[in-house]
Amino acid sequence: MVKICCIGAGYVGGPTMAVIALKCPNIQVAVVDISVQRINAWNSDQLPIYEPGLDDVVKGCRGKNLFFSTDVNKHVCESDIVFVSVNTPTKTRGLGAGKAADLTYWESAARMIADVAKSDKIVVEKSTVPVKTAEAIEKILTHNSKGINFQILSNPEFLAEGTAIQDLFNPDRVLIGGRETPEGNKAVKALKDVYAHWVPEDRILTTNLWSAELSKLAANAFLAQRISSVNAMSALCEATGADVTQVSYAVGKDTRIGPKFLNASVGFGGSCFQKDILNLVYICDCNGLPEVAEYWKQVIKINDYQKNRFVNRVVASMFNTVSNKKVAILGFAFKKDTGDTRETPAIDVCQGLLGDKAQLSIYDPQVNEDQIQRDLTMKKFDWDHPLHLQPMSPTAVKKVSVVWDAYEATKDAHAVCILTEWDEFKKLDYKRIYDNMQKPAFIFDGRNIVNAEKMREIGFIVYSIGKPLDAWLKDMPAVA
Ligand code: UDX
Ligand code: UDX
Repeated sequence: MVKICCIGAGYVGGPTMAVIALKCPNIQVAVVDISVQRINAWNSDQLPIYEPGLDDVVKGCRGKNLFFSTDVNKHVCESDIVFVSVNTPTKTRGLGAGKAADLTYWESAARMIADVAKSDKIVVEKSTVPVKTAEAIEKILTHNSKGINFQILSNPEFLAEGTAIQDLFNPDRVLIGGRETPEGNKAVKALKDVYAHWVPEDRILTTNLWSAELSKLAANAFLAQRISSVNAMSALCEATGADVTQVSYAVGKDTRIGPKFLNASVGFGGSCFQKDILNLVYICDCNGLPEVAEYWKQVIKINDYQKNRFVNRVVASMFNTVSNKKVAILGFAFKKDTGDTRETPAIDVCQGLLGDKAQLSIYDPQVNEDQIQRDLTMKKFDWDHPLHLQPMSPTAVKKVSVVWDAYEATKDAHAVCILTEWDEFKKLDYKRIYDNMQKPAFIFDGRNIVNAEKMREIGFIVYSIGKPLDAWLKDMPAVA
């Protein structure tokens, strides 16, 4: 029986391994992590991450051929294929600070594999890593190998949170990069055989190591660039009276461009986009390509601009001050159907409003108070470290309350900011919300999910990203 082990039971490692176990009953899969708390949660009824469909997959194979454990050494030692899916945060100090990936966790995983291995192993990069990481890992493994043969593969994950299970069941492509040697080809074939249990052959692409690593960064950079492009357009739409939804629709009808990923928003978030672009920028700089680096940096700058623009719009519309005004924040996760808050635009928007002394009341169906308080006080690049290394929840930010109901969040508020596109926010009783708010009552829709016309009929002053502005907003321009 082939044995697989995955180091890192996070958003990537957990769902990916669960699907491999489900689709390959003849393979034994162990997911290991240094966090006891996380492993306990994976072994309980309350999984550590919220992902539609995940519960059923885990229940279908946990205890049969899927195991979650903190006994890292044992499982690594026993397995034929070791996936590594540990954090690769942005460096906060030293060379490349603020841009380069910090490979501390990756390096320690590699050293540990070399230490405990007693048989040949295929080591698979699942974490997004800078190009040529595999080479570094290969060096660590071979210099510590005691005669054991290690083959390194890059198998970047393309799943998106909220749709992870569907993405894993039915991937657009699976990418496997390996050394172009007989041993390398054999390792690529072994991993290909795992995916071939359910993925059609023509969707399994094989490349060299560097191409696989760079493809992951490139794919995320292209996706983020689309959002920054449409968000840049949204600013122009507001200035001119065009409607960004109509523009996106018209642009997306061109089959060369396509309709997906063209929704204007308050900004993109998530653990990948910004980190991967910073990485790409760093690699370009290191390779003497400052113009290319500058080009990609602009994608992040527009994203920051979009978040600032939103805050400025809120403050400017409310007579240039939100000091001591209650502002309801609906949605804190970086997108719907996930409880993940890493790099969520809500952090910047909330910090911006707190900077103007607003009183925030936050509601998100999947994010708890501890997480929100932690996020609002954490330093910019601390978020991608394992939980036990993150700052403990500090004394609560006094101007923030976190509630478990949208109606409570909006009660007596001056304004509502919608920051995540949760379906339930579309179905709220906005008349009831309006009646319980201070007047004039504002809605700032950062995801364009409410029907602005209906809201105006109720009495709200409405701001929708990239849409023609209310007379009120035109009279109160946001000047940064
Ligand atoms: C992770 C990385 O964050 C991301 O950069 C990469 O692209 C894919 O892998 P994700 O699964 O979303 O993505 O991260 P996270 O949920 O933080 O999971 C990483 C897990 O690794 C954590 O549970 C952490 O405890 C664990 N870990 C970290 C180890 O088991 N050992 C370590 O040395 C470090
Ligand atoms: C992304 C990639 O899609 C995935 O392939 C990769 O493996 C990991 O990174 P993820 O970050 O989970 O996945 O979510 P994604 O759906 O890409 O959304 C990222 C951010 O962009 C979210 O904040 C989302 O709200 C925002 N977004 C997305 C927009 O603002 N507009 C859009 O049209 C699409």
